[in-house]
Formats: sequence, C-alpha cells, structure tokens
Amino acid sequence: MSRVAVVGAGTMGSGIAHVFAQHGWDTLLVDTVPAALDRARQSIAANLDRQVKKGGLTPDQKAAALGRLVTAATLDGGNPPAELVVEAATEHRETKFQIFRDLDRAAPPGAILATNTSSISITAIAAQTARPGLVIGMHFMNPVPVMPLVEIIRGLETTDATTARTVEIATALGKTPVEVRDAPGFVSNRVLMPMINEAIFCVMEGVATPESVDTVMKLGMNHPLGPLALADLIGLDVCLAILEVLHRDLGDDKYRPCPLLRTMVAAGRLGRKSGRGFFDYGR
Ligand SMILES: NC(=O)c1ccc[n+]([C@@H]2O[C@H](COP(=O)([O-])OP(=O)(O)OC[C@H]3O[C@@H](n4cnc5c(N)ncnc54)[C@H](O)[C@@H]3O)[C@@H](O)[C@H]2O)c1
Repeated sequence: MSRVAVVGAGTMGSGIAHVFAQHGWDTLLVDTVPAALDRARQSIAANLDRQVKKGGLTPDQKAAALGRLVTAATLDGGNPPAELVVEAATEHRETKFQIFRDLDRAAPPGAILATNTSSISITAIAAQTARPGLVIGMHFMNPVPVMPLVEIIRGLETTDATTARTVEIATALGKTPVEVRDAPGFVSNRVLMPMINEAIFCVMEGVATPESVDTVMKLGMNHPLGPLALADLIGLDVCLAILEVLHRDLGDDKYRPCPLLRTMVAAGRLGRKSGRGFFDYGR
C-alpha cells in the first residue's frame, strides 16, 4: 500500500488528499489548525458524495476512500508516510521554508518532498533540505478532483528519478503531468495572474463592473469562468501572494498587484472561502 502525507488542509490540501485517498493511497492530512482538518474532512466527504451521485464512484469506493484518510496536527500524528509528502500550506516563503526543514527531519530518508506552491522557487525550497534531489514541484489545479493538469517543476538539483516517479504518480492519479522549468509562477500563474490582475484594474478604474468584466471574458473569449470569479475561487489572498512573488522575482512592474486587490485582502474579502470577494457567496 502506498502512503502519502499532505501538509496543509485548506482548499488545495483537502483536494489533493481526496484524490490520493480515492486512488488507493493511505493518506495522512496534516494541518496546524484543527478546524481546517474538520472542514477538509467534511468537504472531502461532500465531494465524494457528488462523485457517487454522478455515477463516477460506487458508495463502497467512497467509503474506502474515506477509510484511507487520517487527519493529524503533526506529521508523526498518524501513520508514517513511506514514499511521498505533498506540501500545500499557505503561500508564504518563510512558512514553506520552515515546513521543508521540518519535513527533511521527519520524513523517511528516501521520501520525495513535493510542494504545491503556485509561485515560490522550487530550488530555494529544496535548498532548505539535505535532500534537494528529492524535492520537486507538484502543482495541482483547483478544484483538484476535477482539473486534469499537474505542472511538474524540477528544481536545479531535482534528479531524473524523482521527476520520473512524480510523473508516474500524477499519471496514476488520473492526471496529465506537464514538465516545466523552475521560474517564478511557472507557466500557469505567469500567464493567469497578469490577466486576473488586469481584470481587477478594470474594476478599480471603473472601466466595467465585475459582472461585465467576467461576461466579456466568458462570452468573448470562451472562458468557462470569468477572471474575477476564478480569482474568488483561487482565493484573493493567494492571488496577491503569487503576484508579489512574480513582481519581486521577475523585477518587472507589469506584475505590480492592483491596489484594489490589496484592499480586498486587507478587508478580509478573500473570495469563496470567506463568503465574499468580487462576488457574494451568501455566507
Ligand atoms: N487556491 C488555489 O487555487 C491554488 C491552486 C494551486 C496551488 N495553490 C497553492 O497551494 C497552496 C495552498 O493553497 P490553498 O489555497 O489551499 O491555501 P489555504 O489558505 O486554503 O490553506 C492553507 C492551509 O495551510 C495550513 N498551514 C499553514 N501553515 C502550516 C504549517 N506550518 N503546517 C501545516 N499546515 C499549515 C493553514 O492552516 C491552512 O489550512 C499554496 O502554496 C497555494 O499557492 C493554490
């Protein structure tokens, strides 16, 4: 039986744990905030239910997936992970650096340490450990059970064996891995975040309402979700954190986060997870 630990039980960590547990992995989900673990277990159960209703899973498969999921406040609070840790904690450089220093001590010596970071350098994260060859970016998309892409990002020291095994695991989870180089924002957020930022500038400058901006992009560009609804789904705090990394690490003012985005985050309007962002989610 394969074992994985997922560190961080927010939007992404819960989705990542869901997919691993569904595909037969013994899954330990770790978060320092107990309420996050409770919310994650509830949302995983609700999302598995939805798959059962749609005919994608049997009730037995749902029960088996939930049975493979253990939650804990620390990595050694559950079964020790044998092979892989996926870090999906807050998008904050120092937080991730500390987690990787801790993981390097706590995880078995041969374990791959993957990060779901959206923008932070894999090479810099790997340098926090004594096993940089085993550190890699495994960038899932939101919502994880639905989205087929996993960006696989090699740090400078990531070995061919680590990359090959990570690609193999992503494929076994039913995902399509795409390898990209370690550059700020990789491909996904390097392209996506400037579009979201520009949409926010349009709102701030009074060019159009959030509804109109999103309607233009949905009906005009065939996007299934407008950029502002997508920003609300991602989390406005996460968008701001990614733009700050792009701005600082690429050194180009075209990545400057829109002041309205900063204001929204300061006000706690973080999108779906707080009930309100550019749109209202009725909580
Ligand atoms: N939200 C998205 O759409 C999206 C998409 C792809 C990648 N990501 C990346 O995934 C990661 C997580 O994003 P999210 O949206 O799930 O964030 P989130 O804010 O929803 O969840 C983060 C979780 O990490 C926990 N955490 C913080 N420090 C921790 C620690 N030291 N140990 C254990 N848990 C800790 C928090 O309690 C929280 O529950 C970030 O790196 C983000 O950039 C996000």
